[in-house]
Amino acid sequence: MSARQIWIVDFGSQYTQLITRKTRELGYSGEILTLEKVEELFNNGQYPKALVLSGGPHSVFEDNHNYDFLFQREDLPILGICYGMQLLGKHFNGQVEKGFTGEYGHSKVHFTSDFKIENCPDEFNVWMSHSDHISSAPSEFSVVMETNNNFIGAIKHNSRPILGLQFHPEVDHSEFGKEVLGHFYDELANLNQDWDSKTMLQEAIEFVSQVGDSYVLCAFSGGVDSLVAATLTHNVIGEKLHCFFVDNGLLRPQDYNHIEVLKKETNLNITILDAKENFYNACEGVSDPEVKRKKIGYTFIEVFEEKVHEYEKDHGIKFEYLLQGTLYPDVIESISPHKKGGKSDTIKSHHNVGGIPERMKLKLLEPLRLLFKDEVRMIGKELELNPDWVHRHPFPGPGIGIRVLGELKLDSIKKVQQSDQILFEELHNFDLYGATWQAFTVFLPVQTVGVKGDARAYENVICLRMVDSSDGMTAKYSQLPYEFLTKVSNRITNEVKGITRVVYDITSKPPGTIEWE
Ligand code: XMP
Repeated sequence: MSARQIWIVDFGSQYTQLITRKTRELGYSGEILTLEKVEELFNNGQYPKALVLSGGPHSVFEDNHNYDFLFQREDLPILGICYGMQLLGKHFNGQVEKGFTGEYGHSKVHFTSDFKIENCPDEFNVWMSHSDHISSAPSEFSVVMETNNNFIGAIKHNSRPILGLQFHPEVDHSEFGKEVLGHFYDELANLNQDWDSKTMLQEAIEFVSQVGDSYVLCAFSGGVDSLVAATLTHNVIGEKLHCFFVDNGLLRPQDYNHIEVLKKETNLNITILDAKENFYNACEGVSDPEVKRKKIGYTFIEVFEEKVHEYEKDHGIKFEYLLQGTLYPDVIESISPHKKGGKSDTIKSHHNVGGIPERMKLKLLEPLRLLFKDEVRMIGKELELNPDWVHRHPFPGPGIGIRVLGELKLDSIKKVQQSDQILFEELHNFDLYGATWQAFTVFLPVQTVGVKGDARAYENVICLRMVDSSDGMTAKYSQLPYEFLTKVSNRITNEVKGITRVVYDITSKPPGTIEWE
């Protein structure tokens, strides 16, 4: 059973998560379900208050699945987006035409009847991403929006609460997309708002209560996810929660400071496990990025297991749960029905704590598993955590290990630590910390010619990477003032020994990833 009033059926669109986010931003609870799950729940007589059919990469012409079960209940409000709208067209006997060139990108739509949406102008920009389209609306539907090149933009059922949109209201490029979604939930589906930070926190607390009297351990990084997960768990089980922070020697100066601050200023029981040598030894001589990531991941698991077992013996306790700050995007990626046909490419292995629960025979406790990062920040605020902690930039598990390109050497790690220290001091001095989503320096193991004093220098390069993003999936380089960039560059070349050149990475993601390895 789903506790959410809106079920979003995933047909494999790259934007399905965004539908959920936008739905919740509007104050309605929604979750993504597979088609199979929805069919099973419908067969058991369970229904949502509204159903959203997502877009998808397929064509309704290629799809012989019988979707009739989705449309049986006359009173069920349904929103079909893109592929979802074409399913409506097919089911209700409209005409769907196969597209050969497709339409991708910006388009304009206008209302064609007296149907209006509050706060929407008569004409507005939307985001299209489709090849097939409905060329003739089913007889029970009216065309309520058209594109400026005379394609059908939206259809509405004449008596049932069903709306179909050819464009993607969930994408930021669609102006008034939120108003369109809001109109469906509010006017057509008649829903009440039921989603806010108090509800999220309450649910997370109830979830944590399942551990009863058990001891819980947390692989604590100090980042917003583990901090919020640990704080709310501590509020429920108190001293039975033990947090372990692994010092892998691949951290920045501010990470060490941060953990000391958290030890002093929170009630959390935080133990620092010094494992620098283990990580340096494991990575010695390794320069391939994937091998490096894997070595760092495995070392984390080994160190964690060994040191936590020692701790258990010393304290006469036994942990039963591993608390993790896993978020919704990680959870739904693994259940999407459209992954069936083949696995998506692994761009980079993200090894943080994966593998620990099996090795250490721990049950997983993931109170944030249904939430997005911005929602976790809202819970952090609700828990009255310091806003600076809640709005900390993300920092990857393998840390500086993936920011020293090629072989990891202590000297290069120090260069990144010093450059990062300078970068962050200046971000704060110029009041720009909040103007970028993530900022860091990368050590490039190439030598270039420079001049220092009157002498020729032949030294390494530091690259600055600062990006704007909302979730790390896509990113653009941050357009920060030249004055600030100049100051950072001057300081790094003057203060960090062995660096004569500083460059700024202006690549978007895609095609570049945010990290360099
Ligand atoms: P990429 O480099 O894939 O990074 O564009 C996207 C976001 O993910 C972070 N990142 C990681 N985070 N473990 C993490 O916890 C990892 O192994 C890892 N690799 C990348 C990266 O810093 C960026 O925010």
